[in-house]
Parts: sequence; C-alpha cells; structure tokens
Amino acid sequence: MPGELDGKVAVVTGGASGLGQATVELFVKEGACVVIADVDVDAGEELARSLGDAAAFKRTDVTDADEIQGAVDSALEHFGGLHVMFNNAGVGSALTTFLDDDFSDFERVMGVNVFGVMVGSQRAARHMRANGGGSIINNSSIGGITAGAGVVTYRASKAAVIHFTKSIAADLGRFGIRVNCIAPAHIATDITRYDQGPVLKYMQPLRRQGQPEDVANAVLYLASDRAAQVSGVVLPVDGATTAGPPPNQLKAFAAAMKDTEE
Ligand SMILES: NC(=O)c1ccc[n+]([C@@H]2O[C@H](COP(=O)([O-])OP(=O)(O)OC[C@H]3O[C@@H](n4cnc5c(N)ncnc54)[C@H](O)[C@@H]3O)[C@@H](O)[C@H]2O)c1
Repeated sequence: MPGELDGKVAVVTGGASGLGQATVELFVKEGACVVIADVDVDAGEELARSLGDAAAFKRTDVTDADEIQGAVDSALEHFGGLHVMFNNAGVGSALTTFLDDDFSDFERVMGVNVFGVMVGSQRAARHMRANGGGSIINNSSIGGITAGAGVVTYRASKAAVIHFTKSIAADLGRFGIRVNCIAPAHIATDITRYDQGPVLKYMQPLRRQGQPEDVANAVLYLASDRAAQVSGVVLPVDGATTAGPPPNQLKAFAAAMKDTEE
C-alpha cells in the first residue's frame, strides 16, 4: 500500500511528546521522513531512534529563530527537502485569575506559541516558495476560537495563531503553499493534566476521550494531497466542543437556575 506521504519530508516542532509525537509516528508510517524539532533531547532522540532512518532529532528551541532555521536546514541535509511543516510546539499559561496574573510567563508563552509558529512558518515557506510549494500546519487550540475566563495569555496566543494562519494563507497561496491550523481540545497529554471526566460529561458533545492519534490524523489530512484545495482553514479536533454545549449542560444549568429561584 503506498503511503499518504511517500517521498515527503516534514519538520514537526514539539515532536518529542503528545500530539507532536503521535504525528511524527503517523507521518513515518505514511512514508514521510521527519525531523523531530524539540527542546527535550532525551525524548526526541529516543523517538528518532525508535523510528529508524526515517526520523532524525534536532534540538530546537522555537523561541530562537536561528534554531528554527537549524531544524529546516536539518531536513534539507538529512532528507533532501521540506514539504510539510507542523508548527506544533506549545506551552500553557498560568491558571491564575486575570486580576491576579503577574504576566511572568507572558514572554515564554508568546515566544513559543506565537513567535515559534510565525518564524517556523516563515523559514519553511522560504524553502517551499523556491521548491514548488508545500503545506504548513499550525497548532492552535479551542482556546483560540472560544473566549472565556482563565488562561488568557494562552487564549490570546492561540487566537493569534489562527489569525496569523489565515493571513499567511492569503499571502502564500500564489507560491503553492497551503497554510492551515488545527484546534484540538481535551486530549490527554503532558499539557492537559486535569480530570477529563467532567469535560466529557458536560462540555464535549461527543462523549469520547480524544487521543493524540485523532489529532495526528487531522494533521495528516492537511499535510497530504487530499487537502490540495484546502488552505486558510481552522479545523477543530474537539468532539464538537466549539459547536456548542451538549443538552445535559443546559439541563444542569436549568436545574441550577431553579435552585436559585427557590
Ligand atoms: N492536548 C490538548 O488537548 C491540546 C489542546 C489544544 C491545543 N494543544 C496544543 O498542542 C500542542 C502540543 O501540545 P501537547 O498536548 O502535545 O503537549 P506536550 O506537552 O505533550 O507537548 C509539547 C511539546 O512541545 C515541546 N516544547 C515546549 N517548548 C518548546 C520550545 N520552546 N521549543 C521546542 N519545543 C518545545 C515540549 O518539549 C513537548 O515535547 C501545543 O501547541 C498545545 O498548545 C493541545
């Protein structure tokens, strides 16, 4: 069976863990060669080793433009090209309330989540423009679609990713470069260390625990030629969370309202 990404080369930032790792593994299974670009050297090297010749690890801090360039160069050196860039590396922000937030993590969150995505897109696109096009996929979040109280720096960073993605999709289409983003939710990884039970019960209409592989499948679609006419979109991988609340949330709300009235 031919793979969906036969002959393609990809860079996956934050590829050593969670959603990035699942994507690296699926990309390799589908025939791609992949550079894992991450700050976590131990996990990144181990993953690359487990995947054999189709994967290489490059220590990359996406808050440093030169290091991102190093990851792109590594794809060219190791595998002779770059067709897919998944700007996935991301970090959460403080769980404090807005009024108590001292913004001590602002630079880090914006650096990884926004600067890293912007420079990663730019360095990949410079190569793709000169080489017949490519596919860039950025990792946003439902926090970038739906506003709400809490983690406001994270939300702002992920909203920026969406607007940025659409803006450069408009700019780069003329070079055959497609740019899309995904918006995952509530998938168990290192970043989501909270009890997912109430989320599945009251917030997510599909009562199924999302897996890293669900995200990898969405990224694979956007990376592959099946999405040849798809650019500038935000694809939620969220079990319909951003579509609206499930009926039981409304029921619980109605019951709480009744309590208040009594
Ligand atoms: N898990 C979810 O439910 C969820 C939901 C919405 C969005 N996301 C987004 O998905 C992306 C991946 O998150 P995850 O859930 O797999 O978490 P994760 O913590 O398992 O993976 C994040 C990876 O990014 C790497 N990383 C962190 N800072 C970096 C830097 N400066 N340079 C390079 N790599 C760096 C980490 O070492 C790690 O390997 C993030 O952008 C996150 O915001 C995840």
